[in-house]
Amino acid sequence: MDIVVLISGRGSNLQAIARAYSEGKIKGKIKLVISNKEKAKGLKIAREFGIKGEFIDPSAFKNREEYDIHLVERIKKENPDLVVLAGYMRILSDYFIESFEGKLVNIHPSLTPAFKGLKAQKQAIDYGVKFSGCTVHFVTKDLDAGPVIVQAVVPVALEDTEESLTEKILAYEHRVYPQVIKWISEKRVRISGRQVIVEGARYGTLPVNPALEDF
Ligand code: GAR
Repeated sequence: MDIVVLISGRGSNLQAIARAYSEGKIKGKIKLVISNKEKAKGLKIAREFGIKGEFIDPSAFKNREEYDIHLVERIKKENPDLVVLAGYMRILSDYFIESFEGKLVNIHPSLTPAFKGLKAQKQAIDYGVKFSGCTVHFVTKDLDAGPVIVQAVVPVALEDTEESLTEKILAYEHRVYPQVIKWISEKRVRISGRQVIVEGARYGTLPVNPALEDF
């Protein structure tokens, strides 16, 4: 299961995924990490794991479409089985999404379809929800709203702030994202319309995060 990971910043999800690969929990290789930000901490993490990392500068291209055409070409050279968005904070063009449809996944720090877009944790705090969490989904042209592969539920305490909720959710992100990549690598994931079926996963049972098995 070879993947390419796209990032824009801190790269803590990249780190969790790279660790799962290096511990042999997922077979295959992270072939390339691409960042649209030169200073992204995630590029340093890639180096630490001996993974090729590249900054591709959006300002060197005429517009979003041109940038994405270049990106698709660069990614395809690596011939990955899956393209993984891990905190990649740039809207994707339709061309990019069509190029990898069914082979493109994202993680979002809310229980989608709630709180799409930026600052999902702050949106959850401001709304006053009692539970939030994170979602790994296939990417479609609807922003943060593709078919859900897995969700982890995180209770929101009265005293939670944007920062504390972000941290609590992140701890689950670091478990569910490697888990999903492992499932896909084991060919256990099938899409049927909006339903994603993971063969053998224990959905719909208590406790609140039943689908986590290995991480
Ligand atoms: C994560 O919380 C991820 O869910 C979020 O950005 C953060 C990246 O952190 N992604 C989105 O909001 C996408 N809409 P990381 O760089 O430490 O992995």
